Amino acid sequence: MYIAEKERYSKMTYNRCGASGLKLPAFSLGLWHNFGSNDSFDNMTNMLTTAFDLGITHFDLANNYGPYPGSAEENFGKILKNTLAPYRDELVISSKAGYFMWDGPYGDRGSRKYLVASCDQSLKRTGLDYFDIFYHHRPDPETPMEETAQALDYIVRSGRALYVGISNYNPEQTMEMAHLLRDLGTPLLINQVRYNMFERTPEDWLWSVLENEGAGSIAFCPLAQGLLTNKYLHGIPEGSRATKSQFLNADRVNQAPIDKIKALNEIAEKRGQTLAQMALLWDLRGPLTSVIIGASRPEQIIENVKSLDAPAFTDDELKMIDEILG
Ligand SMILES: NC(=O)c1ccc[n+]([C@@H]2O[C@H](COP(=O)([O-])OP(=O)(O)OC[C@H]3O[C@@H](n4cnc5c(N)ncnc54)[C@H](OP(=O)(O)O)[C@@H]3O)[C@@H](O)[C@H]2O)c1
Repeated sequence: MYIAEKERYSKMTYNRCGASGLKLPAFSLGLWHNFGSNDSFDNMTNMLTTAFDLGITHFDLANNYGPYPGSAEENFGKILKNTLAPYRDELVISSKAGYFMWDGPYGDRGSRKYLVASCDQSLKRTGLDYFDIFYHHRPDPETPMEETAQALDYIVRSGRALYVGISNYNPEQTMEMAHLLRDLGTPLLINQVRYNMFERTPEDWLWSVLENEGAGSIAFCPLAQGLLTNKYLHGIPEGSRATKSQFLNADRVNQAPIDKIKALNEIAEKRGQTLAQMALLWDLRGPLTSVIIGASRPEQIIENVKSLDAPAFTDDELKMIDEILG
């Protein structure tokens, strides 16, 4: 029987999510990769318990995570039942709908029909009574934003979720959705955005928009799927994401700015950190609420959470990193 590490809450920092009452761990764990039907069940169980033992209380899912789509939610549900169920009230579990999930006109995008049905399917797959956060995964230009907002509000009012979020929305869409949700009485909790050393566009708008709206922010792909680590410095290692995912292939790795990665790696070494640790801490230097890490094995989670032990960046280090990133 799994018993959680007693000292887990002393190892993690918890940040308030915008102006809400909810705090999220500085690091959350995402189940996009390595939790599908072809992955090792023991390894995914170890990753979830390792994460929780380190104080990671937030696990991020979506309806389509797998492959096959839905299998990450099914595996999470099994692991929850076997190990983490006694700790349900210590967990923040999120899921999303917005990308293609099933055939026909009702299994994609942002209609009320799709979002409510998909949320019900996700609850069934995970065996949960409710999600802590339910997201609209991407904006839908074909559905009135009022309808998507009403669906999210309904999902909360009907007890299917406690809070709502959005992902992949641009600044104007974020503001519009935040206003619609506020008028409905279900405030926008959080915006989930791609943010890492190679993808800094959220810096131009995200913090100010979200501060005005009282919403928090959470970064995905903080290591650019592994490019911001030392693993691709000398080619593509067997078993890495670039050898097995449709979202990161050899071409993308070969086009990555290897000189920049090497220069960043040197700064990380001088700081006594791995590049992964430095890239994650760099994400957290601003007002982000949390960073969603992905992992293929428990050791990566342990290494990544250790980044919180390092000293904050000096102004000189931040300047050098800015110069490398250009
Ligand atoms: N809202 C959205 O549209 C959206 C989109 C994408 C992701 N997300 C969320 O964000 C989460 C994280 O995304 P991500 O998995 O792409 O994050 P990431 O942190 O950029 O990449 C994680 C991958 O990097 C490698 N890695 C991690 N730690 C490492 C270390 N210390 N040393 C060497 N390699 C390391 C592992 O790949 P290997 O297999 O190579 O070991 C791992 O699977 C997802 O699970 C999902 O919850 C959301």
